[in-house]
Amino acid sequence: MTTSTASGKIILFGEHAVVYGRPAIAAPVSQVRATATVTDGPAGKGCILFAQDIDEEIRPTQAAADHPLALVLRLALDAAGVQAEPDWRVALTSGIPIASGLGSGAAISTALVRAVLTHANQPALPETVSHLVYRSEELFHGTPSGIDNTVIAYERPVWFVKGRPPETFAVGRSFTLAIADSGIASPTKETVGDVRRAWQADPAASESIFHRIADIVHGARRAIADGNWAAIGLLMNANQQRLQELGVSSPPLEKLIEAAREAGALGAKLSGGGRGGNLIALVDGESAGAVQAALLAAGAKRVLLTQVGGAEKQI
Ligand code: PMV
Repeated sequence: MTTSTASGKIILFGEHAVVYGRPAIAAPVSQVRATATVTDGPAGKGCILFAQDIDEEIRPTQAAADHPLALVLRLALDAAGVQAEPDWRVALTSGIPIASGLGSGAAISTALVRAVLTHANQPALPETVSHLVYRSEELFHGTPSGIDNTVIAYERPVWFVKGRPPETFAVGRSFTLAIADSGIASPTKETVGDVRRAWQADPAASESIFHRIADIVHGARRAIADGNWAAIGLLMNANQQRLQELGVSSPPLEKLIEAAREAGALGAKLSGGGRGGNLIALVDGESAGAVQAALLAAGAKRVLLTQVGGAEKQI
Protein backbone atom coordinates (compact mmCIF):
# COMPACT_ATOMS: atom_id res chain seq x y z
CA MET A 1 0.00 0.00 0.00
CA THR A 2 1.24 3.51 -0.80
CA THR A 3 -0.20 6.66 0.74
CA SER A 4 0.81 10.11 -0.47
CA THR A 5 -0.51 13.50 0.53
CA ALA A 6 -0.34 17.06 -0.79
CA SER A 7 -0.90 20.39 0.91
CA GLY A 8 -3.16 23.29 0.02
CA LYS A 9 -1.70 26.62 -1.07
CA ILE A 10 -2.38 30.31 -0.83
CA ILE A 11 -1.29 33.11 -3.16
CA LEU A 12 0.11 36.01 -1.13
CA PHE A 13 0.77 38.50 -3.92
CA GLY A 14 0.48 38.74 -7.69
CA GLU A 15 -2.46 36.57 -8.79
CA HIS A 16 -3.81 37.29 -12.29
CA ALA A 17 -0.78 39.43 -13.25
CA VAL A 18 1.23 36.18 -12.93
CA VAL A 19 -0.62 34.83 -15.99
CA TYR A 20 0.98 37.74 -17.94
CA GLY A 21 4.55 37.01 -16.90
CA ARG A 22 4.69 39.06 -13.70
CA PRO A 23 6.04 37.51 -10.48
CA ALA A 24 3.84 36.14 -7.71
CA ILE A 25 4.47 34.93 -4.18
CA ALA A 26 2.71 31.85 -2.80
CA ALA A 27 3.02 29.55 0.18
CA PRO A 28 1.81 26.07 1.08
CA VAL A 29 -0.98 25.62 3.62
CA SER A 30 0.15 22.38 5.19
CA GLN A 31 -2.69 21.88 7.65
CA VAL A 32 -5.20 21.15 4.88
CA ARG A 33 -4.30 18.17 2.70
CA ALA A 34 -5.42 15.80 -0.02
CA THR A 35 -4.55 12.10 0.26
CA ALA A 36 -4.20 9.32 -2.31
CA THR A 37 -3.80 5.65 -1.34
CA VAL A 38 -2.91 2.91 -3.82
CA THR A 39 -3.47 -0.74 -2.94
CA ASP A 40 -3.01 -3.81 -5.08
CA GLY A 41 -6.40 -5.28 -5.96
CA PRO A 42 -7.34 -8.79 -7.16
CA ALA A 43 -5.60 -9.86 -10.39
CA GLY A 44 -7.59 -9.16 -13.54
CA LYS A 45 -9.92 -6.61 -11.92
CA GLY A 46 -8.17 -3.62 -13.50
CA CYS A 47 -7.71 -0.19 -12.07
CA ILE A 48 -10.39 1.55 -10.01
CA LEU A 49 -10.26 5.13 -8.79
CA PHE A 50 -12.43 5.81 -5.80
CA ALA A 51 -13.21 9.45 -4.96
CA GLN A 52 -14.22 8.90 -1.33
CA ASP A 53 -15.64 12.36 -0.63
CA ILE A 54 -18.22 12.12 -3.41
CA ASP A 55 -18.56 8.35 -3.22
CA GLU A 56 -17.74 7.96 -6.91
CA GLU A 57 -15.99 5.01 -8.49
CA ILE A 58 -14.20 5.70 -11.75
CA ARG A 59 -12.79 3.13 -14.13
CA PRO A 60 -10.07 5.09 -15.91
CA THR A 61 -10.27 2.89 -19.02
CA GLN A 62 -14.00 3.54 -19.35
CA ALA A 63 -14.15 7.16 -18.17
CA ALA A 64 -14.69 9.99 -20.63
CA ALA A 65 -11.46 11.15 -22.25
CA ASP A 66 -11.72 14.45 -20.40
CA HIS A 67 -12.48 13.08 -16.93
CA PRO A 68 -10.01 15.08 -14.80
CA LEU A 69 -8.98 12.39 -12.33
CA ALA A 70 -8.84 9.61 -14.93
CA LEU A 71 -6.68 11.87 -17.05
CA VAL A 72 -4.25 12.63 -14.23
CA LEU A 73 -4.03 8.91 -13.49
CA ARG A 74 -3.24 8.13 -17.13
CA LEU A 75 -0.57 10.83 -17.25
CA ALA A 76 1.01 9.48 -14.05
CA LEU A 77 0.94 5.83 -15.21
CA ASP A 78 2.55 6.85 -18.51
CA ALA A 79 5.26 8.80 -16.69
CA ALA A 80 5.85 5.83 -14.38
CA GLY A 81 6.31 3.56 -17.40
CA VAL A 82 3.35 1.33 -16.43
CA GLN A 83 2.22 -0.09 -19.76
CA ALA A 84 -0.78 -2.33 -19.11
CA GLU A 85 -3.66 -1.33 -16.85
CA PRO A 86 -2.53 -2.28 -13.33
CA ASP A 87 -4.87 -4.05 -10.87
CA TRP A 88 -4.88 -1.12 -8.46
CA ARG A 89 -7.45 0.49 -6.27
CA VAL A 90 -6.67 4.19 -5.87
CA ALA A 91 -8.61 5.98 -3.11
CA LEU A 92 -8.72 9.77 -2.99
CA THR A 93 -9.89 12.05 -0.23
CA SER A 94 -9.36 15.71 0.57
CA GLY A 95 -9.82 18.09 3.46
CA ILE A 96 -9.26 21.12 1.23
CA PRO A 97 -12.41 23.12 0.43
CA ILE A 98 -13.04 23.15 -3.32
CA ALA A 99 -13.18 26.31 -5.48
CA SER A 100 -11.86 28.39 -2.63
CA GLY A 101 -8.41 29.41 -3.85
CA LEU A 102 -6.65 26.82 -1.69
CA GLY A 103 -5.58 24.74 -4.67
CA SER A 104 -7.82 21.75 -3.98
CA GLY A 105 -7.76 20.44 -7.57
CA ALA A 106 -3.98 20.70 -7.90
CA ALA A 107 -3.55 19.12 -4.46
CA ILE A 108 -5.69 16.06 -5.31
CA SER A 109 -3.81 15.67 -8.59
CA THR A 110 -0.48 16.04 -6.79
CA ALA A 111 -1.34 13.41 -4.18
CA LEU A 112 -2.52 11.09 -6.97
CA VAL A 113 0.62 11.56 -9.09
CA ARG A 114 2.89 11.07 -6.07
CA ALA A 115 1.09 7.89 -5.01
CA VAL A 116 1.13 6.40 -8.53
CA LEU A 117 4.83 7.13 -9.11
CA THR A 118 5.80 5.83 -5.67
CA HIS A 119 3.66 2.67 -6.00
CA ALA A 120 5.35 2.01 -9.36
CA ASN A 121 8.75 2.39 -7.64
CA GLN A 122 9.55 5.61 -9.46
CA PRO A 123 10.89 8.72 -7.73
CA ALA A 124 8.19 11.36 -7.18
CA LEU A 125 10.50 14.34 -7.69
CA PRO A 126 8.86 17.74 -7.22
CA GLU A 127 9.73 18.89 -10.74
CA THR A 128 8.26 15.71 -12.28
CA VAL A 129 5.11 15.93 -10.18
CA SER A 130 4.71 19.66 -10.83
CA HIS A 131 5.05 19.15 -14.59
CA LEU A 132 2.46 16.34 -14.72
CA VAL A 133 -0.04 18.29 -12.61
CA TYR A 134 0.50 21.35 -14.80
CA ARG A 135 -0.37 19.33 -17.91
CA SER A 136 -3.68 18.30 -16.36
CA GLU A 137 -4.43 21.86 -15.15
CA GLU A 138 -3.72 23.15 -18.64
CA LEU A 139 -6.37 20.88 -20.10
CA PHE A 140 -9.00 22.05 -17.65
CA HIS A 141 -8.20 25.67 -16.94
CA GLY A 142 -6.94 26.93 -20.29
CA THR A 143 -4.00 29.19 -19.49
CA PRO A 144 -2.84 28.48 -15.94
CA SER A 145 0.34 30.23 -14.87
CA GLY A 146 1.57 27.06 -13.13
CA ILE A 147 1.77 28.62 -9.69
CA ASP A 148 -0.63 26.13 -8.01
CA ASN A 149 1.16 22.97 -9.13
CA THR A 150 4.54 24.52 -8.34
CA VAL A 151 3.88 25.61 -4.77
CA ILE A 152 2.02 22.37 -3.97
CA ALA A 153 4.55 20.01 -5.59
CA TYR A 154 7.50 21.72 -3.87
CA GLU A 155 5.54 22.48 -0.68
CA ARG A 156 7.70 25.55 -0.04
CA PRO A 157 7.04 29.28 -0.18
CA VAL A 158 7.82 30.28 -3.76
CA TRP A 159 8.69 33.31 -5.82
CA PHE A 160 7.14 32.31 -9.10
CA VAL A 161 7.50 33.60 -12.65
CA LYS A 162 5.67 31.65 -15.37
CA GLY A 163 7.98 29.40 -17.36
CA ARG A 164 10.93 29.76 -14.97
CA PRO A 165 12.10 27.34 -12.30
CA PRO A 166 10.64 28.39 -8.95
CA GLU A 167 12.80 30.28 -6.49
CA THR A 168 12.38 30.50 -2.80
CA PHE A 169 12.51 33.81 -0.93
CA ALA A 170 13.93 34.98 2.37
CA VAL A 171 11.58 35.47 5.32
CA GLY A 172 13.21 37.86 7.82
CA ARG A 173 10.56 37.27 10.45
CA SER A 174 7.86 34.64 10.10
CA PHE A 175 4.33 36.03 9.90
CA THR A 176 0.80 34.79 10.39
CA LEU A 177 -2.04 34.94 7.92
CA ALA A 178 -5.69 34.45 8.69
CA ILE A 179 -7.27 32.68 5.72
CA ALA A 180 -11.00 33.28 5.60
CA ASP A 181 -13.38 31.37 3.36
CA SER A 182 -16.10 33.61 1.92
CA GLY A 183 -18.25 30.52 1.35
CA ILE A 184 -18.75 31.59 -2.26
CA ALA A 185 -17.21 29.41 -4.97
CA SER A 186 -14.40 31.20 -6.77
CA PRO A 187 -14.96 30.94 -10.53
CA THR A 188 -11.24 31.09 -11.43
CA LYS A 189 -11.79 30.13 -15.05
CA GLU A 190 -14.36 32.94 -15.41
CA THR A 191 -12.25 35.64 -13.74
CA VAL A 192 -9.15 34.61 -15.70
CA GLY A 193 -11.27 34.79 -18.89
CA ASP A 194 -12.69 38.21 -17.97
CA VAL A 195 -9.22 39.59 -17.25
CA ARG A 196 -8.09 38.26 -20.63
CA ARG A 197 -11.01 39.87 -22.47
CA ALA A 198 -10.29 43.22 -20.78
CA TRP A 199 -6.61 42.87 -21.72
CA GLN A 200 -7.52 42.10 -25.34
CA ALA A 201 -9.88 45.09 -25.48
CA ASP A 202 -7.41 47.56 -23.96
CA PRO A 203 -3.94 46.04 -23.56
CA ALA A 204 -2.30 49.26 -22.35
CA ALA A 205 -4.76 49.71 -19.47
CA SER A 206 -4.39 46.10 -18.28
CA GLU A 207 -0.62 46.11 -18.70
CA SER A 208 -0.41 49.24 -16.58
CA ILE A 209 -2.27 47.48 -13.74
CA PHE A 210 -0.07 44.35 -14.13
CA HIS A 211 2.99 46.59 -14.01
CA ARG A 212 1.85 48.15 -10.73
CA ILE A 213 1.11 44.71 -9.32
CA ALA A 214 4.64 43.60 -10.28
CA ASP A 215 6.06 46.59 -8.35
CA ILE A 216 3.96 45.57 -5.33
CA VAL A 217 5.19 41.96 -5.55
CA HIS A 218 8.84 43.09 -5.71
CA GLY A 219 8.21 45.41 -2.75
CA ALA A 220 6.59 42.54 -0.86
CA ARG A 221 9.64 40.34 -1.43
CA ARG A 222 11.83 43.03 0.17
CA ALA A 223 9.37 43.66 3.04
CA ILE A 224 9.17 39.90 3.74
CA ALA A 225 12.99 39.63 3.71
CA ASP A 226 13.20 42.60 6.09
CA GLY A 227 10.53 41.17 8.39
CA ASN A 228 8.63 44.46 8.03
CA TRP A 229 5.07 43.43 8.84
CA ALA A 230 3.64 46.95 8.52
CA ALA A 231 5.00 47.20 4.96
CA ILE A 232 3.73 43.72 4.05
CA GLY A 233 0.25 44.75 5.24
CA LEU A 234 0.24 47.99 3.26
CA LEU A 235 1.35 46.13 0.15
CA MET A 236 -1.46 43.60 0.60
CA ASN A 237 -3.92 46.51 0.68
CA ALA A 238 -2.31 48.03 -2.42
CA ASN A 239 -2.51 44.68 -4.24
CA GLN A 240 -6.18 44.39 -3.31
CA GLN A 241 -6.87 47.79 -4.84
CA ARG A 242 -5.31 46.69 -8.12
CA LEU A 243 -7.33 43.45 -8.07
CA GLN A 244 -10.46 45.56 -7.66
CA GLU A 245 -9.42 47.53 -10.73
CA LEU A 246 -9.07 44.26 -12.62
CA GLY A 247 -12.68 43.50 -11.67
CA VAL A 248 -12.01 40.30 -9.73
CA SER A 249 -13.09 41.41 -6.27
CA SER A 250 -16.73 41.40 -5.13
CA PRO A 251 -18.91 43.05 -2.48
CA PRO A 252 -18.85 40.00 -0.14
CA LEU A 253 -15.04 39.87 -0.33
CA GLU A 254 -14.78 43.64 0.24
CA LYS A 255 -17.01 43.33 3.30
CA LEU A 256 -14.80 40.63 4.82
CA ILE A 257 -11.59 42.49 3.95
CA GLU A 258 -12.95 45.63 5.62
CA ALA A 259 -13.99 43.65 8.72
CA ALA A 260 -10.47 42.19 9.02
CA ARG A 261 -8.82 45.61 8.68
CA GLU A 262 -11.17 47.20 11.22
CA ALA A 263 -10.41 44.42 13.70
CA GLY A 264 -6.69 45.20 13.52
CA ALA A 265 -5.31 43.24 10.55
CA LEU A 266 -2.19 44.90 9.17
CA GLY A 267 -3.47 44.33 5.65
CA ALA A 268 -5.93 42.14 3.75
CA LYS A 269 -6.63 41.03 0.20
CA LEU A 270 -8.41 38.37 -1.79
CA SER A 271 -6.29 35.37 -2.74
CA GLY A 272 -6.47 33.41 -6.00
CA GLY A 273 -9.01 33.82 -8.77
CA GLY A 274 -11.34 36.10 -6.78
CA ARG A 275 -15.09 36.99 -6.75
CA GLY A 276 -15.32 34.39 -4.00
CA GLY A 277 -12.99 31.89 -2.40
CA ASN A 278 -10.58 32.98 0.29
CA LEU A 279 -9.14 36.22 1.47
CA ILE A 280 -5.99 36.56 3.54
CA ALA A 281 -5.35 38.98 6.38
CA LEU A 282 -2.00 39.66 8.03
CA VAL A 283 -2.32 39.35 11.80
CA ASP A 284 0.01 39.51 14.78
CA GLY A 285 -0.22 37.95 18.22
CA GLU A 286 -2.46 40.77 19.45
CA SER A 287 -4.90 40.99 16.54
CA ALA A 288 -5.22 37.30 15.55
CA GLY A 289 -8.15 36.48 17.83
CA ALA A 290 -10.07 39.69 17.12
CA VAL A 291 -9.59 39.38 13.36
CA GLN A 292 -10.71 35.75 13.38
CA ALA A 293 -13.83 36.65 15.38
CA ALA A 294 -14.61 39.67 13.18
CA LEU A 295 -14.30 37.60 10.01
CA LEU A 296 -16.66 34.94 11.33
CA ALA A 297 -19.12 37.61 12.51
CA ALA A 298 -18.98 39.20 9.03
CA GLY A 299 -19.97 35.90 7.42
CA ALA A 300 -16.76 33.96 6.78
CA LYS A 301 -17.47 30.23 6.70
CA ARG A 302 -14.21 29.34 8.38
CA VAL A 303 -10.92 30.93 9.29
CA LEU A 304 -7.56 29.13 9.32
CA LEU A 305 -4.36 30.57 10.69
CA THR A 306 -1.16 29.72 8.87
CA GLN A 307 2.44 30.77 9.34
CA VAL A 308 4.76 31.77 6.53
CA GLY A 309 8.50 31.40 7.17
CA GLY A 310 10.27 29.68 9.98
CA ALA A 311 10.31 25.94 9.68
CA GLU A 312 9.89 25.49 5.91
CA LYS A 313 12.72 24.01 3.92
CA GLN A 314 14.20 25.98 1.05
CA ILE A 315 14.01 24.94 -2.59
O1 PMV B 1 -8.08 30.40 -7.86
P1 PMV B 1 -6.71 29.84 -7.70
O2 PMV B 1 -6.24 29.76 -6.30
O3 PMV B 1 -6.46 28.60 -8.48
O4 PMV B 1 -5.68 30.92 -8.29
C1 PMV B 1 -5.68 31.34 -9.59
C2 PMV B 1 -4.51 32.23 -9.78
C3 PMV B 1 -4.56 33.05 -11.05
O5 PMV B 1 -3.40 33.87 -11.05
C4 PMV B 1 -5.79 33.92 -11.07
C5 PMV B 1 -4.55 32.16 -12.28
C6 PMV B 1 -3.23 31.43 -12.54
O6 PMV B 1 -3.25 30.51 -13.35
O7 PMV B 1 -2.19 31.82 -11.97
